[in-house]
Amino acid sequence: MIRAIQETDLAEIIQIEQAAHSHPWALNQFSKRLNCARHLHAALVIKGKIYGYYLASQVAGEAELLNISVAPSQQGKGLGFKLLQHFISNLKAETADVFLEVRASNALAIKLYEKQGFHQLGCRPDYYPCRKHGREDALLYALSVQK
Ligand SMILES: CC(C)(COP(=O)(O)OP(=O)(O)OC[C@H]1O[C@@H](n2cnc3c(N)ncnc32)[C@H](O)[C@@H]1OP(=O)(O)O)[C@@H](O)C(=O)NCCC(=O)NCCS
Repeated sequence: MIRAIQETDLAEIIQIEQAAHSHPWALNQFSKRLNCARHLHAALVIKGKIYGYYLASQVAGEAELLNISVAPSQQGKGLGFKLLQHFISNLKAETADVFLEVRASNALAIKLYEKQGFHQLGCRPDYYPCRKHGREDALLYALSVQK
């Protein structure tokens, strides 16, 4: 089942976030977006357990995917693709373009986005902090949504 994230999901989500990311979001980065009309979010739940989630913003015909994560033990099984498709099909009718940023080294996420039809628009050099190299490029991806 894929459904909206609830406040009570956050303890479980934070555990996945910390396991899945080198620079995880803090709790308040999730909670401030939960009850906000400009944000869209969902969790993928199997037998009462959260396996993955996404959060995005939607303003004036544009959406930005801010976070998509799958628990490390469940990656590579198609769950990220399911979440991404849920996100795209739940965008407001007026949303025409979707954007996202991804670390240049994040090959799995880039594969996932390209499989969904995103194309690379540009690059922000040295945008992200990086444990290995100090800084890392952000790649900007976009998708035009056809309704
Ligand atoms: C990026 C992420 C969300 C992908 O979710 P996932 O459930 O692992 O991805 P899926 O299983 O749906 O795979 C989708 C595509 O990605 C690629 N892929 C994903 N995992 C893969 C793996 N282990 N090996 C090879 N390719 C893989 C494949 O192209 C796959 O398409 P295919 O099934 O046709 O081969 C997940 O790996 C993740 O949470 N990573 C850590 C957090 C992160 O980096 N989030 C994105 C930036 S915010």
